[in-house]
Amino acid sequence: HNQFCVAGIGYGESTCGTSSSSSSNKLLIKGGTVVNAHHQQIADVYVEDGIIVAVNPTIAVGDDVYVIDATGKFVMPGGIDPHTHLEMEFMNTVAVDDFFSGQAAALAGGTTMHIDFVIPTNGSLTAGFEAYEKKAKKSCMDYGFHMAITKWDETVSREMELMVKEKGINSFKFFMAYKGSLMISDELLLEGFKKCKSLGALAMVHAENGDAVYEGQKKMIELGITGPEGHALSRPAVLEGEATARAIRLADFVNTPLYVVHVMSIDAMEEVAKARKSGQRVIGEPVLSGLALDDSWLWHPDFDTAAKYVMSPPIRKQGHDKALQAALSTGVLQLVGTDHCVFNSTQKAFGIDDFRKIPNGVNGIEERMRVVWDIMVESGQISVTDYVRLTSTECARIFNIYPKKGAILPGSDADIIILNPNSSFDITAKSHHSRVDTNVYEGRKGKVSTFIVSLVQMVYCTARTSIKS
Ligand code: URP
Ligand code: ZN
Ligand code: ZN
Ligand code: ZN
Repeated sequence: HNQFCVAGIGYGESTCGTSSSSSSNKLLIKGGTVVNAHHQQIADVYVEDGIIVAVNPTIAVGDDVYVIDATGKFVMPGGIDPHTHLEMEFMNTVAVDDFFSGQAAALAGGTTMHIDFVIPTNGSLTAGFEAYEKKAKKSCMDYGFHMAITKWDETVSREMELMVKEKGINSFKFFMAYKGSLMISDELLLEGFKKCKSLGALAMVHAENGDAVYEGQKKMIELGITGPEGHALSRPAVLEGEATARAIRLADFVNTPLYVVHVMSIDAMEEVAKARKSGQRVIGEPVLSGLALDDSWLWHPDFDTAAKYVMSPPIRKQGHDKALQAALSTGVLQLVGTDHCVFNSTQKAFGIDDFRKIPNGVNGIEERMRVVWDIMVESGQISVTDYVRLTSTECARIFNIYPKKGAILPGSDADIIILNPNSSFDITAKSHHSRVDTNVYEGRKGKVSTFIVSLVQMVYCTARTSIKS
């Protein structure tokens, strides 16, 4: 438990797939290097009915136990992605990965749980929650929900309490950008922060100055800059830094912890660093695209190629990526998300004459585990135990599901991945599991990454037919 410990998260457990399975529900993973955030050792892991029963150097079992030999491989808690948008209705369209295809992609990439954002329906939290419960019925792995707050009145205030006390939601996101749709005012931000504080819930912000972004967008169009590069030019890092600083100061004023989602720039990261150094309880979440990409693609002459990199806050110039990696390795930033929110080329093409109409969002749910391994562990910036902390354990701790999730310990859920450090990956839209027709990591090759997702989760995965491999 840490200082952010609040009401237990109401995570959904998928119900499809296994109930009538006749195969053994006992599993032994033998001889691997078991890695937790606090410790690693060569050990066997024994699982019954989806729960870890024992972790010991040698475990003897009978013939009725299915045995996987993990010699030479790492046995780790499955990845937990703290930031996804499956089937999100956004910018006049709907993200193409739903709770089945997005989760299938996640599992194929070694992520066994994700936390998605419930968007209220016309401001109603209850209606929004019901809509997302329905979307999540397709699930083939465990998930949790954060909830966005998009307007403020007495009803919303009461509904926040209901969500925390009855639905297990313990985190609320406030959008400081997307003027005219999701954006909220500073007045609402203060009300929301106060309510989070009184409920013991965690406030989260999308930090960009939405009014200034709106100005910047108008200016680009007036200048005749209508292509995807206008997206980057209209919302520079200074606007992310400003909003991050403002949210941090308002959270300090209210005296409540703050979680900054998708920290994309040095400007925002330095605000998080400064606040943490002064003792303020601030968490910074970089996402894979910010750590691994730069904005040069937005200038690509082919619209389809450039448009797939449009997300907000924008992917920044070269240099921000490396600085965010360094911040992650030194503890200034605490965990890695993806902001997986995918739109096909036909949807991205809504903005062919005006970058403001390109649906914002990139892929990452399937790529996060392998690319973070490649850029952070293979590069020598973090240890294998750090990797587990940044991709799984820290998320479980922050959202109060540790050690049920995020650890390989007796009693923990058997959300286990087996990672082969002597393998390689080659990312392409042709072979990924997401429904989206492009991939922002197209052509990226690296070390590691046959992930074997053990357990029940894999039974779900193979029980469904629309998975490609
Ligand atoms: O471009 C993005 N990030 N789309 C998803 C919505 C959000 O702001 O997280
Ligand atoms: Zn956002
Ligand atoms: Zn997001
Ligand atoms: Zn597959």
